[in-house]
This record gives sequence, structure tokens and C-alpha cells, in this order.
Amino acid sequence: MLEKIEELLREVQQFQSQNKEEIEKFRIAFIGKKGSVTELFEKFKEVPNDQKKEFGQKINALKQAVTHKIEELKKEISDEKIEKKIDLTRPGFPQELGSRHPVNIVKNRIIEIFKSIGFVVADGPEVEDDWHNFTALNLPEYHPARDMQDTFFIEKDPDVLLRTHTSSVQIRYMENNKPPMRILSPGRVFRNEAISSRSHCIFHQIEGLYIDKEVSFADLKQTIQYFTTQLFGKSQIRMRPSYFPFTEPSAEVDVYWGLNSETDYRITKGTGWLEIMGCGMVDPAVLKNVNIDPEEYSGFAFGMGIERIVMLLYQMSDIRMLFENDIRMLEQFKQL
Ligand code: PHE
Repeated sequence: MLEKIEELLREVQQFQSQNKEEIEKFRIAFIGKKGSVTELFEKFKEVPNDQKKEFGQKINALKQAVTHKIEELKKEISDEKIEKKIDLTRPGFPQELGSRHPVNIVKNRIIEIFKSIGFVVADGPEVEDDWHNFTALNLPEYHPARDMQDTFFIEKDPDVLLRTHTSSVQIRYMENNKPPMRILSPGRVFRNEAISSRSHCIFHQIEGLYIDKEVSFADLKQTIQYFTTQLFGKSQIRMRPSYFPFTEPSAEVDVYWGLNSETDYRITKGTGWLEIMGCGMVDPAVLKNVNIDPEEYSGFAFGMGIERIVMLLYQMSDIRMLFENDIRMLEQFKQL
């Protein structure tokens, strides 16, 4: 029996582990309910009285060796853990937040302004048919004004194309809804144009349409003036006669930017005026195409390029900056 104790003691001394579970197994094997040391204690009764003293001391020492070993190993593990543990007092790394693209920022601002006077956003497809992009907008086949917007065709006969303006959404909305209506259609448009500092073949437009009884040109002018005041803080506008097949009369809107700085001189070419959008009264022919009676209803429409407004607001001189997605440029819009 004494030999057995010696053997167990050796085992205890040799035992090494960094593993919590292994240490626990070790504990159970030796001093658990059925552990070998526990068993020895049970056998203690059978030991002859004269040997009891020596025997008792030995198993006690063995038991102590086991508990001491366990304590030691556990301490080692936790010491090591503390070393490896992340230092919670260190300041964290700030999480980098992205920024909205300036085109999105400006688009959202424009939507907010028109929402406040009752416009709602309408959506339509980027791949369009001829009817919605041209014919219904009073641009029948062979109409020379089709050349105003060079088109990317996807299929011929019947034509499938990339929309050249978001006016196509007007048609879709009017086909499916009854007046009164006040909609805004923001979205991507495509034109087969050479890319330069002023133009790009993909860009964004936002267009408005208002149809009701007795809508007049004065309503149009007032609406646009409200918009320029809200967006630019500038309320002086002028309307120059222009031509769009889907509006009659049509106008180009200039906002008085002022001549307070060198930049103002440069961007307004010394005039103080900046062109911001096209607009007009919806042509009765367009209303007829979507089964709205032009005798009963009238309306106005306007449309602008969002990139152009972005460039004005942030004084950018090259439209291509808005498509390169250079992080150094985008980062500057973080707080906006
Ligand atoms: N669709 C025109 C364009 O792309 C803009 C416009 C919209 C003009 C509505 C008048 C009315 O140039």
C-alpha cells in the first residue's frame, strides 16, 4: 500500500498541463469521489493500527501534493491569460464611417424641398421602350428633336433603349394614375456623348411633374422660385424661352448667383446668372397620349441634371470627379 502511495506521488509530481479540462480530469482522478486518493482514505480502516500513523501522514501528504499541484497549474494558466488578454484600458480604434456620395446628398436635399410642398417620388425603369422615352412625349419617329439626346439603343424594332431622361417616368405615372398628381422622378439617365469635364454619358436627373385643374405658368414660376430659395438661398430667377417637344411654352431657368467673388465671375461667365433647369407647361399632346383631357387639366414639368447642381454647390470644375469615386474626394462629404 505504501508503494502505491509512492507511485501516485510520482505521478502527481510529473503531471503537467496548460489545459483547464485536463487539470479538472486530474483532480477527479485523484481526489474526486472515486479518485485514487479518496479510495486510499477508505482503505485506511483496514490498515493495522501500528501502521496507521505512517500511513495517515503519507496519504495526507499525497492529498496535499495533489491540491498544491492543481493550484499551481491553475495559477500558471491564469497568469498567462492575463498576459495574452486584450488590455481593456487601451483606447479603441475608431470605426471608419463611409460618406454619402455628393450626388445622393444633393438628390436627397432636392427631394426634401419638393416633398415639403406635396411632391412624392415616382420610379421607373432605366431600360425603356420608345413609347415612354420618346413617342408619348411628343417626339414621334423621325422627329428632329430626337437628336437633342443621343441615345444608346439596346435592341432595334421594336426599340429598346437606355432612357435619355427621366421624363419617361412622367408618362408611366400618368398612364397609371389620375390627376391631381405631383411627382418627382430622380434617377440615372444615359446619353451617347463624349465624356469631358462638362458632360458624361451616365448622369442623374430629377424631374418634377404637376397636373391638376387650372395649373398655370405662374404656379410653375412660384414653385421653382421656392426651390431655388430653399436650395441655394437665392430667390431671383429668370426664365428664357426655350424648346422641349413635351412642354409648351418651354423655358430655361437661370438663377441669379451674384458676382461677389472671382468664382462667381468664372462660373457665370461674368453675367451673374446660372442656368439650372429646363421646364414648361405640359404639352396638351402629351396629356392626350396618356388619356388625360387637356381641356380639363393642365400642368407643368421641370427637369434638371443633379451633377450640375452638385458642381455648383461644391464648386467642382470637372464632372468626372463625381464618377471616379476617389476616396479622398468622397471623404470630404462625411459630415454632410
Ligand atoms: N427632359 C428634359 C431634358 O432632359 C428636361 C425637361 C424636363 C425639360 C421637363 C422640361 C420639362 O433635357
